[in-house]
Amino acid sequence: MANSIKPISLTPNFIVPEDKRPQLAHISPLASIPIIDLNDHVTSSLLQKISQACEEYGFFQVINHGVPEELCEKVMTAVTQFFELPPEERAEFFTEDLTKQVRLFNYYLKSEGQEKVTMWSELFSHPWHPVDDFTHLLPQNPPLYRVAFAEYAKEIGGFMNRLLSLISQGLGLDKDCLRKRMGDNPRLRAQANFYPLCPDPELTLGLAVHTDLNALTVLQQSAGVTGLQVIKDGKWVAVDPIPNAFVINLGDQIQVLSNGRFKSVHHRAVTNKTHPRISLAMFYGPNTEDVIGPIEDLIDDEHPPVYRSYRYAEFLEKFYSQEGTRRIVKELFELPK
Ligand code: OGA
Ligand code: NI
Repeated sequence: MANSIKPISLTPNFIVPEDKRPQLAHISPLASIPIIDLNDHVTSSLLQKISQACEEYGFFQVINHGVPEELCEKVMTAVTQFFELPPEERAEFFTEDLTKQVRLFNYYLKSEGQEKVTMWSELFSHPWHPVDDFTHLLPQNPPLYRVAFAEYAKEIGGFMNRLLSLISQGLGLDKDCLRKRMGDNPRLRAQANFYPLCPDPELTLGLAVHTDLNALTVLQQSAGVTGLQVIKDGKWVAVDPIPNAFVINLGDQIQVLSNGRFKSVHHRAVTNKTHPRISLAMFYGPNTEDVIGPIEDLIDDEHPPVYRSYRYAEFLEKFYSQEGTRRIVKELFELPK
C-alpha cells in the first residue's frame, strides 16, 4: 500500500476551509511560554514556577533537563534520516489501522458537508517502552534509529518520572502520587512529526488545533524552526525553539487528575516556506485499564469533583470516534454542576 505517502504539493485536499486557516499575521509577537531551569534545587520557588505554568499555560520549556545533548541530537538525526528515506521505503509503515503498534499516518480534518482535508505533515508513531518488546518492530533503516531510540527512551523515562514528581508536588501532593495513579504499566508512545516545506502556509495546517489526550508530553523540536503555537488568553503564542530545551505540556489526563486545576491547553502546528520542520513528542499516559478521575486529596467542599471517573480505554474510544473533527473528549466526562 505505497499510497498516501508521497511528496506532497498544495493540492485542494490540503487546503483547509477559510474559517480554519491559521491567520499567521495574528500571532502575539512578544508573548512566550514560561522557561524553567531544572538545574535549580527542588525548592518551593521551583515548585511554584511549575504549578503556575501548569495552571496558566499548560505548557513550559525546560532547560538543563539532564538528558545528554548528544543523545537528543542523535535521536533527532535518526528521525530526520527516517523522513529522508525514499517515500516508497517509508510507506512500508503506512497504515490506517489504529491497532497497529507502529504506524506512519496523516491526520485530517473533517468539516460538516465537506471533503476531508489532509494535514501538511507525516506522523510516525510507536511505543517507546518497554524497549525489548518493541525494538524489533522499529525501522532497520536508518541504522541509527533503533539504537538511538533505545538510549533516548531510557533517559526520557527517568526524566518523565522526575517531571511527574515535580508536578505532583506542585499540586501539593506526595511526589509519587501522579505516577502511582497511572500504574506500573503506563502507555508510553512516541510520535515523530514531519512538516515538509509548504508553498503557502496560510492555506493549510501542520496539525489542527488539539489538546493531547495523554497525561504528559515531552517534545523536542528542530533547532531554529518555529511551528508550534499555543493558545493563551484567546491568542496564539509561538513556542520558539530554545537550544537544548524540551517543550513540556500537560495532557487531558492530568487536567482530570488535578480536578481541572492544571490545564491541558489547545495548540497547533503551522507550516513554513523555508525550512522543513521535525519534532519528536514522547507521550506518557495511563494504562488502558487504569481508572482515571480527580485525585481525592484535591477534593473538598470548595472543590467538588469536576469529572467522573472512567477507564482510560473508554476515554480512548471516545477520542478515536471523533477522529478528524474538533475533539471534545474530556468534556464528555464532566459532572453536572
Ligand atoms: C503533538 C504536537 C507539536 C509540534 O505531537 O501532539 O502537538 O510542534 N506536536 O510538532
Ligand atoms: Ni499535541
